[in-house]
Amino acid sequence: MYTVKEKVLKVLTGAEGYVSGQSLCNELDVSRTAVWKCINQLKEEGYVIDAVTNKGYCLKECPDVIDEEAVKARLNTRFFGKNVVFFEETDSTNNVIKKLAEEGAEHGTLAVCEIQTAGRGRRGRSWSSPKGSGIWMSFLLRPGIEPEAASMLTLVTAMAACKAISVKTDINPVIKWPNDIVANGKKICGILTEMSAEVDWIHYVVVGIGINVNTESFPEDISKVASSIRMETGKRINRSSLIAAFGEAFEEYYELFLKTQDMSLLKEEYNSHLANLNNKVKIIDASGEYTGTSQGINNQGELLVTDDNGILHVVRSGEVSVRGVYGYV
Ligand code: BTN
Repeated sequence: MYTVKEKVLKVLTGAEGYVSGQSLCNELDVSRTAVWKCINQLKEEGYVIDAVTNKGYCLKECPDVIDEEAVKARLNTRFFGKNVVFFEETDSTNNVIKKLAEEGAEHGTLAVCEIQTAGRGRRGRSWSSPKGSGIWMSFLLRPGIEPEAASMLTLVTAMAACKAISVKTDINPVIKWPNDIVANGKKICGILTEMSAEVDWIHYVVVGIGINVNTESFPEDISKVASSIRMETGKRINRSSLIAAFGEAFEEYYELFLKTQDMSLLKEEYNSHLANLNNKVKIIDASGEYTGTSQGINNQGELLVTDDNGILHVVRSGEVSVRGVYGYV
């Protein structure tokens, strides 16, 4: 359910220019005074709204907030973020969504926060999540797919993050298989997908995404491999509009994925964004390392690599690290 203020913000966000006070009243079925009160509240929250007699209201600037209201105002999705929960601070949004999933939350429920005190990365690593600098969010999926297919949801998510970043910024990022988003050789976004399942039945999947948006610097050791949209472009971007662009792209790719429950309809586009396609990569797994040429993913989302002896390897995610021969990417 949207409040009147959320509805006013949604209409203004979606409008090209001025929206008359009367049309807001008619569309939302509220009084002029109610609209006027909402406009004033929004102004107090940092929205810059131009009010011109005989023309109406026009949203000129939005503060960079990512609360429920700001995110919902921009979302144009069918299931992603239909329910949004926002926290100023939480341990990990993946934990939030897990708890909500156990309580029966709906497919698409989204958790967003400003600060994570125990943000988690893949393979037990931690994920730094300071205030104001990024998008730390997780969402719930209840997909009717086999558990074996769930790892591909991470690839679908990576495609959506890649698309959203290229639509909303001047960056054309690439995907480092399976799911790091990289700009100019440095990671700007990571994905952590977790699942509750029986051997043949998925209860739910939690997809967690961390995007370094407005981070201005990283500690020296991390700055060799990590960057942010701000550091790569010199520009700040509005985080809630990036969340909305992600949600829209995710729904588009997810629908295609569900048709075949594999990557066959998405493989070509995924490979067109893949770092090191047709280039030398180093594969590091539990038994050692070898070099070869990356041939892109197959329909199962596995990476095909021809080693230097011409033998084709099918690389599955898990305890495998794929790098370009010259470093992180
Ligand atoms: C990685 O690249 O190692 C994955 C990083 C995933 C970070 C995100 S931030 C939101 C969500 N909550 C977490 O605790 N982790 C993910």
